[in-house]
Amino acid sequence: MTYETILVEQQGAVTLITLNRPQALNALNSQVLTELTAAFNAYDADPKQRCAVLTGSGEKAFAAGADIKEMVDKDAADFFLQDFFSGWQTGVVATRKPWIAAVAGFALGGGCELAMMADFIIAADTAKFGQPEIKLGVAPGMGGSQRLTRAVGKAKAMEMCLTGRNMDAAEAERSGLVSRIVAADQLVAEALKTAQAIAAMPPMAAMVNKEMVNIAFETNLAQGLLTERRLFQILTATQDKKEGMTAFVEKRPGVWKGR
Ligand code: HXC
Repeated sequence: MTYETILVEQQGAVTLITLNRPQALNALNSQVLTELTAAFNAYDADPKQRCAVLTGSGEKAFAAGADIKEMVDKDAADFFLQDFFSGWQTGVVATRKPWIAAVAGFALGGGCELAMMADFIIAADTAKFGQPEIKLGVAPGMGGSQRLTRAVGKAKAMEMCLTGRNMDAAEAERSGLVSRIVAADQLVAEALKTAQAIAAMPPMAAMVNKEMVNIAFETNLAQGLLTERRLFQILTATQDKKEGMTAFVEKRPGVWKGR
């Protein structure tokens, strides 16, 4: 597929995807969703690719939201009949392999929601997160009210949704929304370095670790603990478990088969 709104490049076992509509602050329109879906599907399907990074082009924005110009003339029936925004779940969230959002500048509305779909967020010191949909007469539609609340708790999520105010990088880190902050000019390099470290891990173990942590958001503790044990037990049947533990005992790096 030829992409017009995103850039996709591979650096070894890491796929770097860049939102590329800088003239619209990387606003997320239907074409972006279609292309991101194709890129994430291709990443998931390629056994040589083991981690991905999603970032925004330009310094000003990761993404300033869903594309308001695309939504302004739609009515409720259009949104309902198209089940607007449902494609983000099937096209992006359903990715089984790990990926990181590297956020500089604005991550607002759908931009904040897209970043929160990642397995974790690394923020530049310039990052600003917000759910300003209320100012447009609407509310988050791509998971913001749910994922932000789980990430930072009710008080901050409610205040942000009701006032539309932004959170800067320091507050986002304090609140648990991002894993860490790096200098803006180091953002992509740092995210790629982290992705390379993940890519060097046994790949099935990486997928299972991702699934386990995500299950913590979906279920109660007893069910989560049971699922964790079962997934752990399944991993012990892999060749990479045998190799990982043998390599430790033999004091050498493991060589992964990916199964
Ligand atoms: C479409 C957008 C856009 C968006 C920016 N642009 N955000 N286009 N959708 N979400 C466009 C502008 O129209 C402009 O293009 C260009 O990007 C630069 O933006 P400016 O506003 O001129 O930049 P600046 O003055 O620096 O302000 C930056 C900003 C502001 C504070 C981020 O752009 C802004 O407030 N954007 C909207 C943020 C927002 O409300 N996001 C939530 C969207 S709703 P032109 O060509 O016009 O000059 C959403 C979910 C909705 O995400 C769910 C309900 C159904």
